[in-house]
Amino acid sequence: MAGTAARRIEELRARIREADRAYYVLDNPVLSDAEYDRLMRELLALEEAHPDLATADSPTRRVSGEPGERFAKVAHREPMLSLGNVVSDVELDEFDARVHRLLDLPPGAPVGYVCEPKLDGLAVELVYLSGELAEGSTRGDGAVGEDVTANLRTVGALGANAGVLPRLRGRAPARLEIRGEVLLQKEHFEAMNRVLGRQGDAFFANPRNAAAGSLRQLDWRVTATRPLSFVAYEALRPGEPAWPTHWAKLEALATWGFAVNPENRRCEGIAEVKRWKDEMAERRFSLPYDTDGLVVKVDDLDQQRRLGAASKFPRWAVAFKYPPQEETTRVERIWASVGRTGVLTPVVEVTPVRLGGATVSRATLHNEDEMRRKDVRVGDVVLIRRAGEVIPEVVKSIPERRDGTEREFVFPERCPECGARVVREEGEKVYRCTGAACPAQLVGRFTHYAQRRALDVDGLGEAVAAALVARGHVRDFADLYSLPAATWEAMEIAETKTGSTVKLGVPRTRRIREALERSKVAGLRRLLFGLGIPQVGEATAVTLARHFGTLERFLGATEEDLLGVRDVGPETAREIRAWIDEPQNRRVVDRLVEAGVRPAAEEAPRGGVFAGKTVVLTGGLVKLSRDEAKAEIERRGGKVSGSVSRKTDLVVEGEDAGSKAEKARELGVKIVDEAGFLRLLEGEG
Ligand code: IVH
Repeated sequence: MAGTAARRIEELRARIREADRAYYVLDNPVLSDAEYDRLMRELLALEEAHPDLATADSPTRRVSGEPGERFAKVAHREPMLSLGNVVSDVELDEFDARVHRLLDLPPGAPVGYVCEPKLDGLAVELVYLSGELAEGSTRGDGAVGEDVTANLRTVGALGANAGVLPRLRGRAPARLEIRGEVLLQKEHFEAMNRVLGRQGDAFFANPRNAAAGSLRQLDWRVTATRPLSFVAYEALRPGEPAWPTHWAKLEALATWGFAVNPENRRCEGIAEVKRWKDEMAERRFSLPYDTDGLVVKVDDLDQQRRLGAASKFPRWAVAFKYPPQEETTRVERIWASVGRTGVLTPVVEVTPVRLGGATVSRATLHNEDEMRRKDVRVGDVVLIRRAGEVIPEVVKSIPERRDGTEREFVFPERCPECGARVVREEGEKVYRCTGAACPAQLVGRFTHYAQRRALDVDGLGEAVAAALVARGHVRDFADLYSLPAATWEAMEIAETKTGSTVKLGVPRTRRIREALERSKVAGLRRLLFGLGIPQVGEATAVTLARHFGTLERFLGATEEDLLGVRDVGPETAREIRAWIDEPQNRRVVDRLVEAGVRPAAEEAPRGGVFAGKTVVLTGGLVKLSRDEAKAEIERRGGKVSGSVSRKTDLVVEGEDAGSKAEKARELGVKIVDEAGFLRLLEGEG
């Protein structure tokens, strides 16, 4: 029995030491904090049960983190201790009861505490001699740290960060030791990782590692480029009168010019501490930095002195740790899910784990680049993190825990929903399905097809498209044209504003069906845009339509023919041809033609209603933007000018039009309002 315990103790110590090295020396964790805490708790319990097996150098007795060889060593005058952890109200009560017992206080007497967010950075000490910064060091193993003075001088040199002061403000004691945390705000961390990723450099798993890695650079100039912040929480002035309370100390820190956390709070008694801790449980996610707990410190410094410290922890303070938001688990499967816009997103299925009070079995990775950057493979042990949102994200893989059976995930070449080709376009971060009838993206495709700038099916918006797809009424665009009026009318539509459902009804159905009739002759460019061909936006659709003139000629175009079109490059030519070759896309087009879609042969620009005319737009338009109006006029052969003159053929007067409309009236230039303009565009004016 004791033999088993001895073996387990050795095993635990070895694993903890290895994890410490990865965390403190290499700035690259191999265990989640939660796993680490579990190992530590198990070791503590075993050592308590077998006091004969406890040793002075056990990780339970020694502050983790050895000073690295790369730096000169600095001995701390007073040891920099660590903090004991508690995870529940019961354990907080036990801490409070022990404080009472050691101070000989009656059980009911409230003790004053200061609660501070536990900042997730790295602890440093700054020594000021006569107000000047003389030396700065990391915590190291608590007794001896690393000399990082030059690096620390750069902290806060960027932007409006709280900084390490070169000189104290106001009156300073002969010697002052300041302690606090160097950290990286979340926003800066993300920006920094993006830059490192672009340069192809290793990125950091979390802001803590990023802060530690940035501070522990051999060249202070590298540290200077990292937007680190310093927050002070401790001051020691040997040989000078003691402060009465920790709170007074924090105030003194602020007076010298240090950034002190505005979230620090004084609480009277443990009940108030517990209430504050609960309030911070959610609010902490909206703070600009990571915090995984609350440090609870006895406020009265005389009481602190009487409580003293054990080998590794002070007895006057404790860290409350919130339920872990970060865990390690194993990737069981990765697959690609197809979203509404055809984008394929990797879904990572993991062995279920408890995280932040819920069981999770899925995690997200946004795209392929992120998957490669984080080097996530099927079978990997990964670190996942949840910060407020429902589905946690994969932070990184832990390659150190691979056994060789892991496999990389390859994005499918064919869409898992419809079998169409999957492409990743140049300059895009994502893979997209190219199937025009892919069920996963039908709603998005229908609204794209129906939008005003495409086939302009008035009344067919998102809610109607969603209802059509959900009821299985349509599988592709052609089905829209053959759906009986009665089916449209009876269809239940979700009203986004009220959340209730209503029948589409007769008037709306009539509107849609009339728009569908009109769409049959809306023109080739609108059809080519509406079909959602990769790389074919509105502008390309116009050039293609003008170039080929008819649908048949477009469908018969070879890659070479396509390359002959103005503004069409090799990538676009290839994509378009591949789209035409996709059988399901050809079927959709054929069925559209069968349904009566006859895109009018594209008119040369001179045939448009505005051919050779100069138009001035003034005032605000409601139905379309100024750019859209300009494009519509140009497409019909007109020119848009900024000022009214005798040469102006037409002025479009929007809302609150000013002097231009007046001038047009003076000159007798023809004026139309927005409705009249729209009629002209539709060829009715
Ligand atoms: S007080 C003896 N206050 O937590 C008191 N520490 O596990 C120990 N930490 O190394 C320091 N925020 O890196 C204190 N508001 C805070 C803190 C804080 C984060 C870290 C610090 C320390 C570790 C102790």
